[in-house]
Parts: sequence; C-alpha cells; structure tokens
Amino acid sequence: MPSPELPPIIGHRGAAAAAPENTLAGLRAAHRLGARWVEFDVKLSQDGVPILMHDDRLNRTTNGRGKVAKLPMAALAELDAGAWFGPQFTGERIPTFEQALDLCAELGLGINVELKPCPGRADETTRRALAVLRERWPQGLPLPLISSFEHRCLALAAELAPELPRGYLCGRLARNWPAELARYGCQTLHASARWVRQSQIAAVQAAGVPLLLYTVNEPGPAQALLRAGATSLFTDRISEVGAVAAGHGPERLAG
Ligand code: G3P
Ligand code: MG
Repeated sequence: MPSPELPPIIGHRGAAAAAPENTLAGLRAAHRLGARWVEFDVKLSQDGVPILMHDDRLNRTTNGRGKVAKLPMAALAELDAGAWFGPQFTGERIPTFEQALDLCAELGLGINVELKPCPGRADETTRRALAVLRERWPQGLPLPLISSFEHRCLALAAELAPELPRGYLCGRLARNWPAELARYGCQTLHASARWVRQSQIAAVQAAGVPLLLYTVNEPGPAQALLRAGATSLFTDRISEVGAVAAGHGPERLAG
C-alpha cells in the first residue's frame, strides 16, 4: 500500500460540527464538505466489537446510559447516535469500525484511526481493531495512520502491524518528544493546538516530523498554525477551516 499523504485539514470525529460525531453520517458529511481525510475514535463493545465512539459513557452522544464497555454490540446497535445532534439525524446508529472502514474506502477518504480504549482494554482494543483493519482496508489505498493517547496501544501496534504508520498522540508537547517518537516508532506527532508554541512547531518541522494539531475550529488561528509549519489540523468545521488551507499542499509520509 502507498504511504499516506497528509492533507492540511482532517475532519475531526468525521465532521463534528456538521453531523453527529463518529457516525457514518459524519463521514459522509466530511467527504461532502471536501475533507480528504477523517479522524475517528475506536473502542470496543462489551463483546469485543470495535466501534466508533469517543466517550467511555453513552450519555452524551446516544440515547443510552452508562458505560459503553457494559453493552454487547447487539444492544449498542439499538441505540440512536444522531438525534442528540439534530432531529434530521434521528435513526443514525453507532457504527462498527468495519462499517466505517468500508464507507471511507468507498468515499476515498484517508483515515487516522485513534485507538481510544475503555479503561483496562488497551491491548484487546488494539488487537481487535488491527485485525479488522487488516481484513477490511483494501490493498492499494493509502495506509491508515494509527494514533493513541494510550501509548501501550502504539507499542502493540508496532509489534502486530509494523507496516502501519503510527502517530504519537499527546496533549502538551513534552520536551522529550523525539525520544518518545523513537520509543514507539512513530512517524507523526499529534498534539493539542491549545498549548503549542511557535518555537515548538518550528522545532518539529526542522526535525522533519509531520505535526498534526487538534482541534482547530477558527480560520484565523488555523492559518497561523499552518503558516508556522503545522502539517495538518484536525477540525470540526471543515468548510470554514478548509478555506484557509488553500496553498498548503499535502505532505507525504516517508514510506
Ligand atoms: O486525534 C486527535 C483528537 O481527536 C484527540 O482528541 O479527545 O478529540 O479524541 P479527542
Ligand atoms: Mg479523537
């Protein structure tokens, strides 16, 4: 599979300002709004099915209550994951990772798969998600980029699927980021835009490491970050932020 080209804008949780996050409707919206890549969060149902979901609890983004990890896939599949966002999305379901992969492949969307395990399920989440990826993601499409705040997921991914590029995901950029990248064999660095300083962006760029920043929803700051040398910005607002990304070409990851 070809190594991926990172675009300046990546749809966050699909297209989180336009459609319910981490749903198939959100992936379609991201594509319609012009995103070339999307990011989404993956965790497991109680019975081990990888699904798209950000929170450990169901309350915010579905009509369910309680912990995601307590419900088997059959029960999760009954929940509404769209009505909370708007009545036009009533009936939208929690997608399985498999469904999301199939749709992204069909739409030609590049993907950043953020492994976001429920507490205590890091290894199982990594194993199951990678197994699905291996089985479903078509040969010939650019490789998915795997990232996680749970760095043991990255270590296991390096072991199980060394061919897949990995992104080191963190909040504040730690001083020792080069060592951390090396430790987990990561090709990209993903950090919060909230705290990053221009000097840090310059240092990462000088090291030749793609820097991906979340979550940037205002065009002004987006333009400043791209000009400062950020490679990609995760955004909920694809059209608005995408408008300032013109002129910032995609960056190919070293294969
Ligand atoms: O992967 C980038 C970003 O999604 C990380 O934060 O909480 O939105 O998953 P969060
Ligand atoms: Mg995420």
